[in-house]
Amino acid sequence: MRLLTAAVALTLVVTSAGVAGETVSITLPPESIALDAGRGMDQTQTSCRMCHSLDYITTQPGGGTAQWQGVVTKMMKVYGAPISDQDAKLIEEYLATHYGPR
Ligand code: HEC
Repeated sequence: MRLLTAAVALTLVVTSAGVAGETVSITLPPESIALDAGRGMDQTQTSCRMCHSLDYITTQPGGGTAQWQGVVTKMMKVYGAPISDQDAKLIEEYLATHYGPR
């Protein structure tokens, strides 16, 4: 019973803190990176802009398929990027083609 009371009290504290809290509004800088046009560009733009700017792609030293595969896999497995295997393959091919070794 004491535990229940504590839980109720905690809920009240959390709830009232939420009500009293001020709304913070932030404005993100506009995305200024335009990716090269090509097959897979749409999927890359949609999937890779979710968490960070696309300049994470354009400022990387050009990598081959294996390099980009590693990056995409890391985004999915380590950071939880919600990308289907099908899109991942398309994105890897796109990146290796347009942002590969020059
Ligand atoms: C779920 C969020 C998320 C998504 C979606 C995401 N990334 Fe990332 N990415 C991160 C985080 C977190 C880092 C590392 C933290 C940092 O440096 O800001 C990172 C870092 C990177 C880096 C820097 C090198 C490295 O390995 O740390 C590259 C390149 C990159 N991302 C490419 C991509 C590409 C390409 C995609 C689309 C396939 C993508 N990201 C989608 C979260 C994400």
